[in-house]
Amino acid sequence: MRKEVIFNEENPSEITVLDRVFKKFIASEDILKIINDIASRINKDYADRKPLFLIVLKGSVFFAADLLKKISVDCEIDTIAAKSYGRNIESSGTVHLSELSENLSGKDIIIIEDIVDTGLTLQSLIEKLTEQRINSLETVSLLVKPAKLKSRVPVKYTGMEIPPDFIVGYGMDYAEAGRNLPDIYRLKA
Ligand code: IMP
Repeated sequence: MRKEVIFNEENPSEITVLDRVFKKFIASEDILKIINDIASRINKDYADRKPLFLIVLKGSVFFAADLLKKISVDCEIDTIAAKSYGRNIESSGTVHLSELSENLSGKDIIIIEDIVDTGLTLQSLIEKLTEQRINSLETVSLLVKPAKLKSRVPVKYTGMEIPPDFIVGYGMDYAEAGRNLPDIYRLKA
């Protein structure tokens, strides 16, 4: 069976995922530092509330797991699946969202996104959530690509703004490959 992820033995900062070469961009220890900062802000802002973290599957699972371990306020967790990329490195522009598993009325929701690119996923999700009588709604995203945004979406907690390059690792995939890489890589120009 052909391996999907191949590490470059001569240059450990480079990997090949399927047919493309990526370069290490954010090491796992730096990701954790970014997450600690975000978690402190959320713990402060939600000191007297019980937020419900809505994890956007599948890409956010690593980020959500590490972030939620650092959340010290009482909270709830739910998930929703979103799809817009298929096997490409550009958004198809059409976002498919799964159904919400529970009624969220009265809740203080924090959406957990791995990466905001065009912002269309987040926009669709915000529209879906505002159909319910939720108490408040904020978003946390590990990465945001400001140059790619097509929709003005409010991201209150941003881990890092990055250039408009395609990313893989730490939950984020290229055609479903590379999600389990502990570090974040960016497509080599
Ligand atoms: P958007 O709708 O274009 O903002 O894209 C949001 C979703 O697309 C994210 O939650 C990711 O799952 C996926 N995505 C966006 N950019 C990338 C990337 O660079 N690498 C991998 N997945 C991405």
